[in-house]
Amino acid sequence: MLAILAALQTAPTLSLIPKPQSVVVDPGRFEITKDCRISVPSGQEALGKRLQDYLRPATGFKFNVARSGGAGAINLRLDSHLKELGPEGYRLQVKDDRIDIAAYQPAGIFYGIQTLRELLPPEILRPSQVSGVAWVLPCVHISDVPRFAWRGALMDVARHFEQKSFVEKFLDEMALHKLNKFHWHLTDDNGWRVEIKHFPLLTKLSSNTDFSQMNPRGATRSISVLPGGYYTQEDIREIVRYAQDRFITVVPEIEMPGHAMAAIKAYPDLGNKLEIAAGGGDPSFVGGDNVYNVDDSTVSFLQTVLTEIMDLFPSPYIHVGGDEVWKEPWKHNPQAQQRMKTLGLKNEDELESWFIKQMDAFLTSKGRHLIGWDEILEGGLAPGAAVMSWRGIDGGIAAAKSGHDVVMAPTDWTYFDYYQSNDPKSEPLAIGGYVPIQKIYGYEPVPSALTPEEAKHVLGVQGQLWSEYISSPQHMEYMAWPRLCALSEVGWSQPQGRNYQEFLSRLLPHLDRLRAMDVAFRELRPADLLPEAPAGKP
Ligand code: ACM
Repeated sequence: MLAILAALQTAPTLSLIPKPQSVVVDPGRFEITKDCRISVPSGQEALGKRLQDYLRPATGFKFNVARSGGAGAINLRLDSHLKELGPEGYRLQVKDDRIDIAAYQPAGIFYGIQTLRELLPPEILRPSQVSGVAWVLPCVHISDVPRFAWRGALMDVARHFEQKSFVEKFLDEMALHKLNKFHWHLTDDNGWRVEIKHFPLLTKLSSNTDFSQMNPRGATRSISVLPGGYYTQEDIREIVRYAQDRFITVVPEIEMPGHAMAAIKAYPDLGNKLEIAAGGGDPSFVGGDNVYNVDDSTVSFLQTVLTEIMDLFPSPYIHVGGDEVWKEPWKHNPQAQQRMKTLGLKNEDELESWFIKQMDAFLTSKGRHLIGWDEILEGGLAPGAAVMSWRGIDGGIAAAKSGHDVVMAPTDWTYFDYYQSNDPKSEPLAIGGYVPIQKIYGYEPVPSALTPEEAKHVLGVQGQLWSEYISSPQHMEYMAWPRLCALSEVGWSQPQGRNYQEFLSRLLPHLDRLRAMDVAFRELRPADLLPEAPAGKP
């Protein structure tokens, strides 16, 4: 095994992750020195500032940002002739006297900057000055376009809360990997994490709980080290701005009609007012009513919540959950039964579909799109709504075949709360499952059952960090990295010729970048260096 490691570490490689579409190494090198300038197109000064902010801490160099570039400069350039690069592609050329990054759109320049950071020694990612390093890049020309528009990561802050500073650190980690959708799971049975001005009790009464307190399994197995908490609207605005500066869209998720115990605890009128001992499709659920009732006042409550959410989040997509809705409370709630009768609905499944359609129509009327877990497909959806396929890939296939956009997020390949090893005893306690890095790297997001036309509905892929058993920022990073490195490549890079051993030859040096960023990633183990992951489920 050590021999494999040694061979991989000495392989000549630029170790770029995710792998660009085309890389040609030229003779020569360029050194970034204190005299280096950054030139930016008019109107894009923020990009120049971003590059300056990236390079300055480790180098200690000031980097003047100016309009005039040329020799000795890092030149950022928008070019209307580069339409074929699309909204996110870029060209990066390092010559011995200058660096040029050109793109059709600003996001492309941003991704060129990420590649530039990876061409430098990993110490460039340190947050404070590093001495004794020559900031040298190889001469190279790179042309790069992402495969998918949706390259996402979900963070569940409802089961265990994460501080704003950690969320921002994670966004930095995403940006380096060219991930561009941060799906933020803000509400669930175990906690409500976003301030809603109209309904202060949501955070007053339901933000200090977490999974470990509300679940007997969790209480013994997942001791929370965090106090719980929530984000004020000002916190949210800051995080959304922070993400926007890194070309990341924050997609908020407000769970409904299930996973709603925290909201019902704060406002009992939202629930079904029944004593229910146990149930629910979610393993974190230990009983009690966790489903919103279907009264007009509850629909109106949720639409008021969504109005504040839309004000905070410019995302075209607003996620409304829709998964694992436990129907028992509706079966016993006379108002819910009356609603079904009035609407001529046959069963509670149709009632759920009606519920989601109320939100769909509302979001659509405000110019947004609803997105939800694949259960929302079951009763038919409005044309603009999109689906996240999590219970395998069938939901994704059905969605694409019926003309809906879909993000592939199937448990077997993208659930990063699952074990990374087939030996669970050697790992921190996880919710179950087995998603080794090789499996993620081999994932193909476009199901073979789709025609090329249907495949256009596959927006991309997303990794899920559900936090029932993740109770600290370090643990979150341990579960995320380096598995998200593999997923970033599935989302960004072309699949032709994909080879796990070749990926490893880039990943091993890349880990130095994660170290430089103080990421508490999981070190690779011998089993992770095999071409195929060892079989077996924990
Ligand atoms: C889910 O994991 N319940 C979407």
